Amino acid sequence: MSSITVNPPKIQVITLFPEMFDGVLGSSMLWKAANRGIVEYSFINLRDFGLGPRKQVDDTPYGGGDGMLLKPDPVVAAIETAKQHDPSALVVLPTPRGKTYRQSDAKELAALGEQGTGIIVVCPRYEGYDERITHWIDRQYSIGNYVLTGGELPAMVLIDSVVRLLPGVLGSETSAEIESFQQDDENIEFPQYTRPEEFRGLTVPEVLRTGHHGEIEKWRTVHSQKAEQ
Ligand code: 6GU
Repeated sequence: MSSITVNPPKIQVITLFPEMFDGVLGSSMLWKAANRGIVEYSFINLRDFGLGPRKQVDDTPYGGGDGMLLKPDPVVAAIETAKQHDPSALVVLPTPRGKTYRQSDAKELAALGEQGTGIIVVCPRYEGYDERITHWIDRQYSIGNYVLTGGELPAMVLIDSVVRLLPGVLGSETSAEIESFQQDDENIEFPQYTRPEEFRGLTVPEVLRTGHHGEIEKWRTVHSQKAEQ
C-alpha cells in the first residue's frame, strides 16, 4: 500500500445544546464511523464561555427588534478554544444568510477531511448572532428556504452528508457514487424494490426481475427523475 495515513478529521461542534446530537451521532453509520476511527466528534458548550455569574451568551440587538442575539465574545472564545485543538480546521456557520448547501459542498468538506482537515461547526440560537462573528467564519451555509430555531439540525445534516463520504463509512466504496445528488442536481436516484414481488396488488416492475443487466440499466436511467409529488 502506498497510501499515507493521516489522523482522522476532527468535527468539533460549538452549541448550547450538545445533547441534541446524542441520537444522531450515536446511531448507525455516524456512530460506526467514529467507532472505526474514521472521524472524531467533540462538543464545546457555548455556555462555558458565557459572561458573568449568569454565564450570559445573548443580548438585545442594537437598533431594536425582537429577540436576543448571540454575543460575539463567547462565540469567538469558543472558536479559539476549538482552534487550539485543531488549528487548521475550517470554521462553518449554519445560517439562513448562507449559500445553499449542496452535495458539492459535502464533497469539498469530505475531501478536506480525507487530508486530515477538521471542521468546527458553530450553532447559532435565539434570533441570530452578532455579525462580527463572521470574521472568524470560513463558510456560511443555509440548508434550504425555511426557518429553523437554531443551527443544530443544519449542523447534523452537514455532518451526516460529509461523514458518509469518508472512505470506509459506507458498506461498499461505490454506494455513495451511484446515489442521488452525486453532482448536486443530476443523477436523481432511481426507484428500487425488494421482496415481496407483489404487495397489496402492487407489483415489482417486470424488467427488474429479468436479470437482464442492459435492460435494467436502461430502465433505471429512464426512471432517474424527481418523484411527482
Ligand atoms: Cl442553517 N439555520 C436556521 N436557523 N434556519 C435555517 C437554516 C439554517 N437553513 C435553513 N433554515
